[in-house]
Amino acid sequence: MTEAIDNRYMALAVRLARHGLYSTPPNPRVGCVLVRDGQIVGEGWHKKTGGPHAEIMALVEAGERARGADVYLTLEPCSHHGRTPPCSQALVEAGVARVVVAQRDPNPQVDGRGIGDLEKAGIVVETGLMAEVAEAINPGFNKRMRSGLPFVRSKLATSLDGRTAMASGESQWITGEAARRDVQRWRAQSCAVLSGSGTVIADDPSLNQRLEGEERQPLRVIVDSGLRVPIDAKCLNLDGPRLLVTTADKIPLAGAYQDRGIEVLGLAARPDGKVDLRQLMLELAKRQINEVMVEAGPLLNGALLAARLVDELLVYQASHVMGNEGRGMFAIPGLVKMNQRIQLERKDLRMVGADLRLLFAVSNRDDRG
Ligand SMILES: NC(=O)c1ccc[n+]([C@@H]2O[C@H](COP(=O)([O-])OP(=O)(O)OC[C@H]3O[C@@H](n4cnc5c(N)ncnc54)[C@H](OP(=O)(O)O)[C@@H]3O)[C@@H](O)[C@H]2O)c1
Repeated sequence: MTEAIDNRYMALAVRLARHGLYSTPPNPRVGCVLVRDGQIVGEGWHKKTGGPHAEIMALVEAGERARGADVYLTLEPCSHHGRTPPCSQALVEAGVARVVVAQRDPNPQVDGRGIGDLEKAGIVVETGLMAEVAEAINPGFNKRMRSGLPFVRSKLATSLDGRTAMASGESQWITGEAARRDVQRWRAQSCAVLSGSGTVIADDPSLNQRLEGEERQPLRVIVDSGLRVPIDAKCLNLDGPRLLVTTADKIPLAGAYQDRGIEVLGLAARPDGKVDLRQLMLELAKRQINEVMVEAGPLLNGALLAARLVDELLVYQASHVMGNEGRGMFAIPGLVKMNQRIQLERKDLRMVGADLRLLFAVSNRDDRG
């Protein structure tokens, strides 16, 4: 196969993997293409946990035509008995000739073993083709497997002058309808949506995903150290999983929420009595939360950014000025010198309706002097 042909089929496998953008989490999104004699004989993608893996779907479609085929896979095949038998074994049994893998699986249960199984059976394995593109399909799964923390994306709607609410606390709506529809897609691909007591008290947001045809509801997580959030807040009462996070000492006072079927989690408090956000992220990762979308005000956003827990900023900038009495984006006390700035790298910029959408990667390297 020439490089151009390999690229073409791997690009197709990536597109297949993306079909699982909303449904596959907490599992990784994976795509697979089987090619024999220049013809595609099988295609597959992993739809959801417990369902067939991409390789199996493609092998079933190919049937006998899988023998001697080239396989294009966005992620290394699994080698362990999970909810389904190992895919590496299925590929060996089907008699495929060559497997091109974009990304090695960072899951410690796999991590090269799937590739090893194929090589032991005499199958030619090539890795790394379009690895960066494949990695980008699963930022949360990759980060969780490598670090035990979820991938955190903070979304903010701002005026041109970076204001997120008026001094009165009013903030609805800063951006237009198209931007708000776009937000639904990011929510739907997340495993959790995180907000703070300040936002829930000020805005009573729903924080659920309302994308047509998508059933999976992300976990709604509210941090509320003082149990100040009203018991009838929409985000605590709409269908879907909900988690109210407070400090451990407040658990005896949380009965009214628990009586409504709301799970209340008590975590260690920081010296100022607020929830320890790193502990929260570790706990979310243990619950198989890959991507967290933060939809909060400047206090929680600032605390998360200062704690180096944010990976990406998704900013919708509207064409108006709210003035300097409005509230900012990140409350980070003590940032006074230029070398204390938090560095960002712009990844994308586009118009969504009348608003500008900016996507930044956050540098979590600490170069403060
Ligand atoms: N434009 C936008 O994109 C946007 C989005 C959301 C909200 N808003 C606006 O933002 C305003 C609310 O902002 P806010 O900053 O007051 O509220 P917030 O960031 O949503 O929530 C802050 C609260 O979270 C709780 N919290 C728990 N642990 C924390 C920790 N470790 N660090 C920081 N906070 C912690 C604290 O209250 P406890 O003491 O109760 O724990 C804190 O007061 C509203 O006016 C809303 O309209 C704007």
